[in-house]
Amino acid sequence: MKNVGFVGWRGMVGSVLMQRMVEEHDFDYINPVFFSTSQAGQAAPTFGGKTGTLQSADNIDALKALDIIVTCQGGDYTSEIYKKLRATGWQGYWIDAASTLRMEDDAIIVLDPVNKANIHAALDKGIKTFVGGNCTVSLMLMSLGGLFAENLVDWISVSTYQAASGGGARHMRELLIQMGMLNAEVAKELQDPNSSILDIERKVTQKMRDGSLPTDNFGVPLAGSLIPWIDKALDNGQSREEWKGQAETNKILGTSEIIPVDGLCVRIGALRCHSQSFTIKLKKDISVPEVEKLLATHNDWVKVVPNDRELSMRELTPAAVTGTLTTPVGRLRKLNMGKDYLSAFTVGDQLLWGAAEPLRRMLRILA
Ligand code: HSE
Repeated sequence: MKNVGFVGWRGMVGSVLMQRMVEEHDFDYINPVFFSTSQAGQAAPTFGGKTGTLQSADNIDALKALDIIVTCQGGDYTSEIYKKLRATGWQGYWIDAASTLRMEDDAIIVLDPVNKANIHAALDKGIKTFVGGNCTVSLMLMSLGGLFAENLVDWISVSTYQAASGGGARHMRELLIQMGMLNAEVAKELQDPNSSILDIERKVTQKMRDGSLPTDNFGVPLAGSLIPWIDKALDNGQSREEWKGQAETNKILGTSEIIPVDGLCVRIGALRCHSQSFTIKLKKDISVPEVEKLLATHNDWVKVVPNDRELSMRELTPAAVTGTLTTPVGRLRKLNMGKDYLSAFTVGDQLLWGAAEPLRRMLRILA
């Protein structure tokens, strides 16, 4: 059995990873060693019935002894430890949730329902570094994989509706506190059916603007609003999140000719499901039923939701999808722009297929 070190297992992505590993009995196949940045020496958790002592996450000798390291600790940890560890000649496998190493030539972005062949080819070549993709990219490929697999995509324009969890645990709390404060501001008026809705709106808007909502994490109020920018600004007017769309999609697919992917990434007040609205330029005119068939048969998790009002409202929402591994795709129809132009809308749990699940499955491939 391989000795597998876990760093950052207590955080949000790490916790979802642990939960999924327990559900899938992954601990039966490995010897886990748990690391901590602050509690070395204390008892390790007992996921899958295995126990031990927490090791220090910056102890290079302890890390060096492992066959595989899985880290959800974040980019700063990767930047600090990865090079040091490799410099010692460590030949183990590094599985990482952070974006730091994603675009390195000797790293593969893992999403095995989409790029299993590339993963196995990389393993055969001796590649040892495997990184989870950006959540919107992974979720797009899980739901639109059938079109990419048939090389039918000329380009994609996307608008995202990204959940608070993409920012982190503190962002989710901040959103919920903001929601509560806005509600509290007008709770009395809401109980009176005769109160004026415009007065209520005015009070809410004033509360949103008076500087009293906590905004340490998002920078501005998100509850009752949205934020049309995610991550840092690049020199070309794109946000870094928008840049990742094309860069990571093409790297995951291993395309020889770049498929353009671009659009606007927007933060909304959902908790942990990212949604995306696509305009897809197809390479040829294929019928919607044919598109539906290609999409539905691509992997075990995608689900085509017929372009029907009731079904879209019930099945194609964060409320319906959160906590599940299903990556539904719907609102499929040809657009007024022409027969090669297809619309699509997807929803996916940002912490499952968007973060923890591809890492879990990569570990299973290795173990
Ligand atoms: N960058 C993403 C977001 C999260 O902010 O929603 C994870 O890839």
